[in-house]
Formats: sequence, C-alpha cells, structure tokens
Amino acid sequence: MTISYILSSIAVLLISLFFLFFRSNPTTRSDTMANTSATEALLDELRQNPVDPNSFARPDLSRVDHILWKAFVNFEKQTIGATVDLTVQKQTETVDEILLDTSGLSIDGVTDAQTGQPLNYTLSPSVAVFGAKLTVKLPASVRSTVRIAYRTSSKATALQWLKPEQTAGKRHPYLLSQCQAIHCRSILPIQDTPAVKQTYDAAIVAPKDLVVLMSAVRDGTGAVHQSDNSATKEYRFKQKIAIPSYLIAIAVGDLVSKEIGPRSHVWSEPALIDRCAYEFANTEKMLATAESIVGPYVWGVYDLLVLPPSFPFGGMENPCLTFVTPTLLAGDRSLESVVAHEIAHSWTGNLVTNKNWGHFWLNEGFTTFLENKIVGRLSGGEPNRQFRAFEGLKSLKNDIDNLGRDSPFTKLLIDHRGVDPDDAFSTVPYYKGHTFLFYLEQLLGGPEVFEPFLRTYIDNFKYKVIETNDFRSFLQNYFSDNKEALSRIDWGLWINGTGMPHIIPDYDQTLAKECIELANRWIAAADTDWSQFRANDISAMDAWQRVEFLNNLLAAPEGKISAAKVEAITRTYGLQDNHNSEIRCLWLRLSLAAHCKAYTADAVQFITSQGRMKFVKPIYKALYAWDETRQLAVDTFKANAHQLMDMSAKAVAKELHLNV
Ligand code: BES
Ligand code: ZN
Repeated sequence: MTISYILSSIAVLLISLFFLFFRSNPTTRSDTMANTSATEALLDELRQNPVDPNSFARPDLSRVDHILWKAFVNFEKQTIGATVDLTVQKQTETVDEILLDTSGLSIDGVTDAQTGQPLNYTLSPSVAVFGAKLTVKLPASVRSTVRIAYRTSSKATALQWLKPEQTAGKRHPYLLSQCQAIHCRSILPIQDTPAVKQTYDAAIVAPKDLVVLMSAVRDGTGAVHQSDNSATKEYRFKQKIAIPSYLIAIAVGDLVSKEIGPRSHVWSEPALIDRCAYEFANTEKMLATAESIVGPYVWGVYDLLVLPPSFPFGGMENPCLTFVTPTLLAGDRSLESVVAHEIAHSWTGNLVTNKNWGHFWLNEGFTTFLENKIVGRLSGGEPNRQFRAFEGLKSLKNDIDNLGRDSPFTKLLIDHRGVDPDDAFSTVPYYKGHTFLFYLEQLLGGPEVFEPFLRTYIDNFKYKVIETNDFRSFLQNYFSDNKEALSRIDWGLWINGTGMPHIIPDYDQTLAKECIELANRWIAAADTDWSQFRANDISAMDAWQRVEFLNNLLAAPEGKISAAKVEAITRTYGLQDNHNSEIRCLWLRLSLAAHCKAYTADAVQFITSQGRMKFVKPIYKALYAWDETRQLAVDTFKANAHQLMDMSAKAVAKELHLNV
C-alpha cells in the first residue's frame, strides 16, 4: 500500500465525513435551535403566568366552568379515546381564544359543539413535564362550548394500565388514575390548574365485565352494547360541585362494593372486599366527627376505593371517592388515620383550594391539622393528637435534612416557577404547615377559639381558590381584637423561612415517653446484653407508638445499632412477621442502615410487592446507600420499574441516580 493511497483514502473519508455532518446536519441543527428557542419561549410563558406557573391556562381571560366527557376505555391499545365538551366563559368581550394544557394527547378535531363548525386551533411543542399548549379560537359569543376529539397516549402519566397478572384476581385488566398535581392534562385537554373549578358530567364506555368509577356521584349505566369483537357498557357520572382538574379521577376494573356507612361504600376487587369493609368500618364516625368541627359534608357520597398495590400514594382525596393503597389493610384498623386525612380534604383542599402548587400547604397543612383533630377525638384525645404532631416532626426533620435546610423547598410558600410539583413534594407543607397552625391555635386561645375560626374560614372560602395571603388577612381580621397575640406572629419567617419551624410547640409527651425510653435502652445496651428485653415491652403500644420506637432507633447515633442488635430486636418483637406496612418499612430501613444482611430479601420483597412512594423511595435509597446492596437496588429497579406508575418510577430512579 503506497503512502499516496493511504492519504487519498483519508481524504475521501474526511470529505465524506464533511458531507455527512455539514450537508445533512445544518437542517437538523437549525431545527433544534428553533425548537430550543420555541421551548424557551414556552417556558418563559409559563414562568410569567400570573395565575399558575405550572399551567398554560389563563382563566383571567377565559375559563372553563363545565366539562362533559365521553370516553371509550381501550385496554388493548392502552388508550382512552374521547370527546370532551368544555363550556367556556370569556372574562372580557375582547378575548378570542382559550389556552389549554395537554400532555401526549393526539388531537383529532376541534369544533363548536353548538353549531358543529370547526374551530381553529394550534398545538405547541411539548415542554418538559408541563406538556403542550393547545390554543383554540373561540366563537364570537361570550359563552360557548368547545368540543375536542382526541386520544390519550399509552404513556399518559396520570394513568396506569395493569395487566390481569398485576391484579388480585388475575383475570381482568385494571386502569387507575392519579392526576394530582399536573397529570390531568395527560387525560384531558383542560385548564390544568387548581385556580379553575368546574362541574363535570361523564359517560365512560368500558368492557362489560368491568366497573367504572369516578370522583363523582354515580348516575346509572347503559345497556350492554355488543359489537363484532367486544361487549361494552356505559357508566355515567355527575359531579355537581365545581372542582379543580387535579380531582378528576377514574378507575376501571373488576370491582365490587360493600356498604360501610349511610353514605359510604368501599370498593375493591372481589378477593379483598371483606378485609376492606372491616378495615374502614370507622369511616362514618370520622365523617361525623369532621362535620362536628368544620360543618356539613357537602359531597353527598363518601366512598373509598382500595386500589391495586402499585397505587403511588397512601390516599388521594378524589371527591366522592377517596383512593387508598391496599398497604392500609393491616387487619386491625391501625392505619385508618389516612382515611381521616382524606376525609379532612373534603373541606380543606376540595372546598377551600390552593390557587396553585406554591400554596400547597393550604391544602395539606390544614388537612393534617384537621386529620389529627379527628383522630384525637376518635381515640386518645388531646394526648394522641399531640403525639401524632410530635411524630410528624420526625418525618419533617428527615425530609428537611434530605432537602438541605436552606433548600427553597423547605419554605411553606414555594416559588413554583419552572418547578415540577412532583419534585417539590415533601412533608414540609404537611408538618411545617401543621406546626404553624398548632402554634396559631395555642397563641390565639386554644381549640375553643380556633375551631370556630376554622369553621368560619372554611365557610367563607368554600367553593373558592385562595392564596396564603387570603388566609393571613382573614385570620388577622377575625382576631382583630387580639392585637397583642397577632403582633407576635412572624409571618415572614413562618411563610418564607427555610428549614425547621422557628418555633416548635411543647407537645404532650405522654404517649411518646415509653417508646423513647425503650429505644434508648436498646441504644445503650451492649451488643450481647439482650436479656433485659421481652416481647411484652411493646405489647401495650399501638402501631404508631411502635413506629415512634423504631424511628428513635433509626435516629440513633452512628454505630449504636449493629446488625446483631437489629436481629435481636427483630426476634424479640417478631418484626419479621409484622405486616403493618408502616412498621415493616421502618424495620427494613433500620436493618439496612445497620448493614444487616439477614433481611435484604424481605426488603426486595417489600418494594416489589407494592409501589407506594412513601415506602419504595426510602427502601431503595437505603439499599443504594450500602455498597453491598447498591447493585441489588439497581437490578431490582430495572427488573421491576415497569410495575410502578410513571411518577413512582421517576422518584425511585432519582434515588438511584438513574435516568428513566
Ligand atoms: N393529596 C395527597 C396526595 C398527593 C399529594 C398526591 C401531592 C399527589 C401530589 C393526599 O391527601 C395525601 O396527603 N396522602 C398521604 C396520606 C396522608 C395521611 C399524609 C399519603 O399518600 O401518604
Ligand atoms: Zn393530603
């Protein structure tokens, strides 16, 4: 081979490379540039939205006040094909369009529902988790109904399509939804902001052997419709109270129900229904207790739906139909406080609603406050309420340590511009919010004074959306004859301060005391000295006291809990056989933190048998933190991620430093 041959080959290669890159690439490169600047412009538009930076909607210009949703649930294609009629009210006469949120939706056509005339529309490129803006030109009148025909993507983030094998009965598929915070746009083209409330009617067609449920009052079914290859049935719903988009919910599956109270049924797959009815038998008591504090329950029905294990939350306050995880089925009603929490949302959140996700503490802080009041009244009184408040501070501290105490996400009021609300999620709005309200209650004269205030606050803002300042002004006005107390509230620090609350109330320690003492005895014990401990050390403790005991062990100084000690604790109290999910989660975290090998199989079993984020995140995190189980964590996730709902998979991937 001559030098000139080699040189000419190199030249040919270089020339072809040149053509490859600079001939074909200029177009793609400028396209990406155009896309980047289009994306940036859209992100800017979101940031500048004065109503809600997580939505393209501008309800100050035109707003939807009623939705009619006609949908066909297609399990084969894992899609919902639908038409939605949005009744739109212009806020001023000069407005000529409405901006909607969508995510992954294929739009088939937009018409004026009254005349059938096509309406002009444009769908923007999609930006990150916020999706694509759909702009629809409105008819001339101030009020009109826009009809949109569309299909959802099989990857819709609000939906999980389960195969029969992923259900308890193994025979039928299952569909579930989770819209909060900004996933509704993957099911419906909608003003996907809590600033907008609308009533809805729905007619959902699904395979005839399945049952459809929604966050509304059931309004009958149609006859079975037989076509060539399928038999379907229509289920109708009515939600007469205006609700924000994040409370729209649907579930389709092999579902049965059992009455658990005068306005309540529990729904689940047939195999679980008796356990569910037993577990949630106190629902009516909780509803009645809530009513005695904050006034009448206005939603008519209060049903519960127990979902398959992949449901990512403990509970979700979908109106008329709370969704709950089956990990609440402890067999002894010990985890029913989640239901108290979701019931409480029927007032705080569902009636008085945060205007956008920056004010999320108005939903969750108030709800946690009310939840604890309900639970205290049901059992254990004020000491139990304060024990729960004290316990909550532990999760708060844990989250603030993880976020970093200067993190902007540790503020009560969050700047949500450019932020995915799923990423900002933590116990801060729950327990910092609760602490603030507990502080206010004590400062302003105790429950006798504060509960009537709470009731008036709800009565004043029900059916509305509010911001933190609305609460502040209302409180200042209500207590205006108590200037001295009002002057002591440092609103700036409470609302905009980072880190732990600057004032922590002196909570009643009666119930916590024995848990802390027992934990301290274990922490102090030498590694061979277990003889002082007996199974009955914990027999008088309820499940939440056991949680407190384990939490104290988990917070022990490094090196104080050895693997051998974890095994001794496990044996002494039979923890390996304890199937209370809260206890199990903490026990596994403790074991992994102590680098105890004995229970890693239990840990894997726990995170592959359910997908509740509260449980899977910390266990994956603990597996990842220990070098001996790090690969196991990654392998387990890779093999099981498809079982998780999109939002859970994303959250776990983050803990494992993986991209999904
Ligand atoms: N509304 C929340 C769940 C939620 C929050 C979903 C934000 C999506 C985004 C629900 O009311 C809740 O707080 N659930 C808790 C239970 C509660 C007892 C703290 C849960 O799922 O653990
Ligand atoms: Zn909540």
